[in-house]
Amino acid sequence: MDKLIIRGGLPLKGEVAISGAKNAALPIMAASLLSSGVHTIRHIPKLRDVITMGKILTNMGLNVAFENGNVSINSSSVSNFEAPYDLVKTMRASVLVLCPLVARFGRARVSLPGGCAIGARPINLHLMGLEKMGAKIELEEGYVVATAGRLKGASIYFDIPTVTGTENLMMAAAIAQGTTILENAAREPEVIDLANCLISMGAKIKGAGESLIEIEGVDELKPIRDYPVIPDRIETATFISIAGITGGDLTLTGCRPAHIDAMIMKLRDAGLVFEITEDSMRVKGPDRPIAKDAKTQPYPGFPTDMQAQFMSLMSIADGTSVIKETIFENRFMHVAELKRMGADIMIEGGTATVKGVRRLKGAHVMATDLRASASLVVAALKAEGESTIHRIYHLDRGYEQMDEKLRKIGAQISREKDSA
Ligand code: EPU
Repeated sequence: MDKLIIRGGLPLKGEVAISGAKNAALPIMAASLLSSGVHTIRHIPKLRDVITMGKILTNMGLNVAFENGNVSINSSSVSNFEAPYDLVKTMRASVLVLCPLVARFGRARVSLPGGCAIGARPINLHLMGLEKMGAKIELEEGYVVATAGRLKGASIYFDIPTVTGTENLMMAAAIAQGTTILENAAREPEVIDLANCLISMGAKIKGAGESLIEIEGVDELKPIRDYPVIPDRIETATFISIAGITGGDLTLTGCRPAHIDAMIMKLRDAGLVFEITEDSMRVKGPDRPIAKDAKTQPYPGFPTDMQAQFMSLMSIADGTSVIKETIFENRFMHVAELKRMGADIMIEGGTATVKGVRRLKGAHVMATDLRASASLVVAALKAEGESTIHRIYHLDRGYEQMDEKLRKIGAQISREKDSA
């Protein structure tokens, strides 16, 4: 297990190339199960989660090869229809293979993801939709076992807009018989990216990015050919927070600023200065950010995946900010760690009240989940002295070469083996 050692306090300056989006790459890789042949996907980030998805597909008999930021997947022979517990327990997004398997092969055995550090995160809505499309679903020894003939189009309403639920059912509907309507669907850019990829395979999908998606099933899809995954909006926004907290000056290239409008508006109000083009941005941090409130919401609202990093920024802001988490019930695990660095934060239910302090101090802290880890890196880059962030494998699940990217823009950061 690795740890990161960061000596904070320097304004970070320079250019950062943004990687492909983890949360778009994962469903697009799962979509390779929908048709037979050789699929090629570009702009794939080299991340632990992406490698886990590769292992899940390999375990089913597909041939997966990563090379130079691309992945090629041969889905001509699928011999096993299972996503085993050992892999699913390390990545909940493994559940994205469920619907493609049932839609194309009429069966799947996928380990039910357990609870997660940030909340219970059930998959009842994925299962409800699949049942409505005609699948029979049973729970056996902790596995979801689904069987079906050809799935049939259905009208499906989500009580809560679910990102992977929308993606899973969109994939099922793409090769189901008849038309499927997904209502109160998630509108995230990653949902749109998957829809665009499916359309490039021959799917008939209207309305992705809106709350109502209509999918007219087709008999067969073509393999994915050279589809480029969108840039990672959460990585982009994390580097914006880093410019903001260190008073830095960063140019982020190969990003899609339009995907993080809510963040940019909020951070402009907090005193950060942006120069934006269609696919890049320059962001300068202020001497001290101004405290602003935030409430996490489904897209296009303020993303829950940025709540922790924004809280680090607010921890040194001028004034008090109130940050409400409405998506996950336990996504404040970073708070106790930020407090160890001198932050003044109080939690009551889903609300954190952050009183900005003038300085943070380096400390030993523990990463608890992916975005919490990122928030500790953001804070450590500002903190005086040395911080050690333990259990950094969480960070490696979702940020491509974060330490190298930071070193290039002037951070004092090293990675060591953690004997603790
Ligand atoms: N929910 C249910 N039932 C379901 C599905 C979801 O009650 O069947 C609830 C969840 O418990 C949560 C809410 O609905 O309260 C929204 O969850 P959603 O299903 O949208 O989350 P997800 O699809 O499991 C994706 C991202 C997460 C991100 C959330 C919210 C992927 C692979 N993961 O998760 O990303 O936080 O959407 O935007 O796309 C991350 O990258 O760090 C991460 C956790």
